[in-house]
Order: sequence, then C-alpha cells, then structure tokens
Amino acid sequence: MTASSPKLRSRAWFDNPDNIDMTALYLERYLNFGLSLEELRSGRPIVGIAQTGSDLSPCNRHHLVLAERVREGVREMGGIVLEFPVHPIQETGKRPTAGLDRNLAYLGLVEVLYGYPLDGVVLTIGCDKTTPACLMAAATVNIPAIALSVGPMLNGWHKGERTGSGTIVWKARQLLAAGEIDEAAFIRLVASSAPSTGYCNTMGTATTMNSLCEALGMSLPGSAAIPAPYRDRQEVAYQTGRRIVEMIAEDLKPSDILTKPAFHNAIRVNSAIGGSTNAPIHLAALARHVGVDLPLKDWETEGHAIPLLVNLQPAGSYLGEDYYRAGGVPAVVSQLMDQGLIHEDAMTANGRTIGENCRGAVIEDEDVIRPFGRPLKENAGFILLSGNLFDAAIMKTSVISPAFHERYLENPDDPDAFEGPAVVFDGPEDYHRRIDDPALGITSQTLLFMRGAGPIGYPGAAEVVNMRPPSYLITEGVDALPCIGDGRQSGTSGSPSILNASPEAAAWGGLALLRTGDRVRIDLGKRTVNVQISEAELAERREALRSAGGYRYPPSQTPWQAIQRGMVGQMETGAILEGAEKFQRIAQT
Ligand code: FES
Ligand code: MG
Repeated sequence: MTASSPKLRSRAWFDNPDNIDMTALYLERYLNFGLSLEELRSGRPIVGIAQTGSDLSPCNRHHLVLAERVREGVREMGGIVLEFPVHPIQETGKRPTAGLDRNLAYLGLVEVLYGYPLDGVVLTIGCDKTTPACLMAAATVNIPAIALSVGPMLNGWHKGERTGSGTIVWKARQLLAAGEIDEAAFIRLVASSAPSTGYCNTMGTATTMNSLCEALGMSLPGSAAIPAPYRDRQEVAYQTGRRIVEMIAEDLKPSDILTKPAFHNAIRVNSAIGGSTNAPIHLAALARHVGVDLPLKDWETEGHAIPLLVNLQPAGSYLGEDYYRAGGVPAVVSQLMDQGLIHEDAMTANGRTIGENCRGAVIEDEDVIRPFGRPLKENAGFILLSGNLFDAAIMKTSVISPAFHERYLENPDDPDAFEGPAVVFDGPEDYHRRIDDPALGITSQTLLFMRGAGPIGYPGAAEVVNMRPPSYLITEGVDALPCIGDGRQSGTSGSPSILNASPEAAAWGGLALLRTGDRVRIDLGKRTVNVQISEAELAERREALRSAGGYRYPPSQTPWQAIQRGMVGQMETGAILEGAEKFQRIAQT
C-alpha cells in the first residue's frame, strides 16, 4: 500500500483537501485513543474489527481475546485497527428468539461499515446468526472483508461418551420425560456438553455456517473447524489480520468471492457435512444482499444427491474437535472435488481459488470424515415439499432414523407416503401447555403441526418445529412423530421435520386453515404435503379467515418486533428486510 493509494476510502475522512474543516474535525477526535496524526494521515489502511463477542454472547466471547492477535497481524502489515461492537446475538439467550436479531445486527453493521472510515473489515463470526448477519452486511457495503470464526467448544463428555451441544438437550429431555433421570441429572448432563469457550460443538447451525463461510471463500482455508481454545485458533486470527491488509491492497471484495458458483459449492458442502436446516435461510439472505439469484430449489437440485461424509452429531457420532483433527472443510471439499462436484475456480479470501486451496487435502480419520465412496448416507441434502398447506418447505432426509423409516415409510403399497390425523399447535407456548394432555388423543400415527412460528408470527421465526411426542408415547418407545411447521428448528436437532414452511400462517399461508383432526398426506416421493379436504372446504375456511382479519398472533413487545414484522419476507427467500436488498455495493457509490 503506498502512501497516496487512491483506493482507500478512509482518505475521504482524514485526508480530504476539499473539506479541510471536516477533515480536521474527524482527525482531532480519533486522536483521542492513541493514534498519532502521522498514522492517520499516512495512507495506512484502516481495518475494522466487527466484534461480536461480549458477556451477552458467550459463544463468541473468545473473540475479545482473538482480536488482540488480529490486531497484531494488521499492525505488522502496516494497517491501523478500529475495533467496534456488533449488536449481540446469543442463540440461547435472546428472547423471544435470536432469529429476530439477525436483521437488526445486519442493519447496524451496514451503518457502521458504510458510515465510518473503514477500508476493510474482519468479521468475527461464530454463534448461529452472527455469521449470516456479518456476511450479509459486508455483502451490502462491499468493502474488503474476511471472516474469522471463533471456533467450536472442546468435545463434551459424560461417563465416557461424547455429549454434544443441543443434541444432548433433546436426548436428556426425553430421559426426563420418561422419568429415567431427575432434574439435577438433566442439568448436569446438558452442562457436560459445554466444557470450554467456543460455539456449539455439534454440527448445529454454528458449525454449519462457519463451515459454509469457509466453503464460500470468505475465511482462510482450514480455519472454520479449529476449536476455540486451540493454539491454531490464535494463529489463524493473526493470519486473518495480516490477510485483510493485503485484501485491501488487492481490492478483493465480497462481490468477487460471493458468486453463484461459490453458493453452489456451499450447498454441496452443506449436504456433505450434514448441515443445518437454517443454512438455506441464511444463504438465501446473503445471496439476495450480494445480488446472486439463488432459488430454494437449488438446494435440492444441487445438494440432494450429495452423500453425508461428516460423522458429527446430530446425524452421526463425533464432535468439533474430531472434525478438525480429521481435516475439517478442506478434506470435505477435496472429496467433492475428486468427483467434479466443486466449482474449483471460485475465488477465496486468501487470493487463491478453492481448488488451489483444497486440492490434495487429506482425511486424517476416515471414521469422522468418510471418503466419498464410503459415506454415512447417500442423498444427504434437503428435499423441497409443497402442497395446499404451503408453497415451500424443506426436509433434511439424512436424519431420518431407522425406527422412523420403519414406522412411516415402509408401507409396501406406497413406500414414500404416509397419512395421519393432524394435531395443531399455535406457537411453542401452546405446544408446551398441551402436549402431554391425553385428551388430544395423540398416537404413533398422529402428525404434529406447529404454526404461528414464522418470521412474522413469532417475530424472527422460532426454532420449535421439532416437537417431542407426549411422555406416554415416549415410554411406549415412540420417540419421534412427524413434525411439520412454519417455524425453524435447531441445527442440533436430529428430527426429520418438514419445516421453514412459506408462506407462514401469519402471512396467509395454508397452515392457518388446518384444524386438529384433519387428515394430512405426506408423499416424500412426490414431494407433497396435502390436507385431505376439498377445495370448496378450503375456500370456505379461507373466507372465514379473511372475515376474522387473518391468523392471530401475539402482539409485538418491542419497537423492533413491530418494525421487522412490517418489513420481513418469508423464509423461502431468506427472511430479509424486504427492500434492503436494493442497496448493493454501497461503499462504491
Ligand atoms: Fe451459540 Fe450454539 S448457542 S453456537
Ligand atoms: Mg439455533
């Protein structure tokens, strides 16, 4: 970077001969925290560290430490660091749901990146929504940006067995419901899954989105899977700091990296790692903010036929440390590359293509990352379903258990289809209140429906579609019923739900018309879900809904809930703030 580099947008603040008054004003206050006049006017690139770690965000808190190493990398390459906070998003701590805050953090970060003297940014990612929020903002502003994952926690252990984040909760609550453990043991079991700093150690939404960020090319190769406390994590923080300065000099921007082939690579990697059902929502959002056309159907056409290679909970057995030691994302990409399933010339943050980065990456443990020819499951991607209850929903078929398969899909007349009576819940509170009520008459043939849980109904869309059966069924050995809904579900859940249904009940979707007792037919082969009532009856119910003013959901509790409800789109198209996607590459204007 030369002293007079014309590319640096920060010069408009600190070195603007056309507006000497403002330049002076900007300069005098930034000197307050120890930068010298000489530094600020030297033409050095100014690198932002978008800090997502805080006491409110324990998953990302280790970034407060890692940022020091990022600083050292930036300084060594001649850059200046300005670190600033990003609106916190803690998946497990935010009420009513962390999903509400992704778009808020996005908006806040766009304003910061656009409105302050930053030439590039290091995005500190980790916990579920922090990754898409940061990437979406960097895409909109389009200044050089590189992501640094905080990394997963160490493996959790209990009585010699791996206990994984979130996944252990679903298991423990079944044990509790069946009376096999008491409350204290329940808490102990769940806490054992969180032994260190870092994000969820399962293949939940965090490991998924950090892996996909690397597969998209937005972080350094091999960096996503490094556990948070490992020495290598510090090392990659330092390298990330060094690299962002070079990216600024090269003017390598998100729009150069986030291309359609990169998104298709990410979809395929998502299948191979057994990634979260939240990924289609977040990638759709990111694609729209960067101006790439990525219809939901691409998840099935590009991703369904890819086998599951990564043996991590909830679909498999292992956890984050094992994933890293087995080779992480590069080993997975290299397996797909050998089959011609990766667009190898997609550019990445280190200035090389994904093909150059991952060619020859080996698997160090073939039980954790399986070779392509010996997968855990074939066809591990998502399928898309539609019908008279919604236009689009997805299902992760790789987590269908043998018991579930036997109970619902081994009908000799129709091996991919099953039918049953619906029991409908309006939001998670309704579900929790009533699920164990014997009067509902839930049997192993019942289909559980969750509605009022989409981006508008439960602002931000709650992770509640995976519903455990009533306790009395669990004691009888029925540990999962088919679940369908307009909400999301945690990536740590192994439930084969049909979810993310769009449009949601609160946006006039067909789920609003469903009644407990209706029979619903699910045909996975034909990719359909249909309530078995006549068109005339459906039309009548639609009319009644119209007269009633639409599907009822709880009122907004905060200004942001009301604002987001007025602007948010459906999950099929990323649940972004509609209209925000018009603002693209704004740093160049
Ligand atoms: Fe933060 Fe899982 S709760 S990563
Ligand atoms: Mg989640």
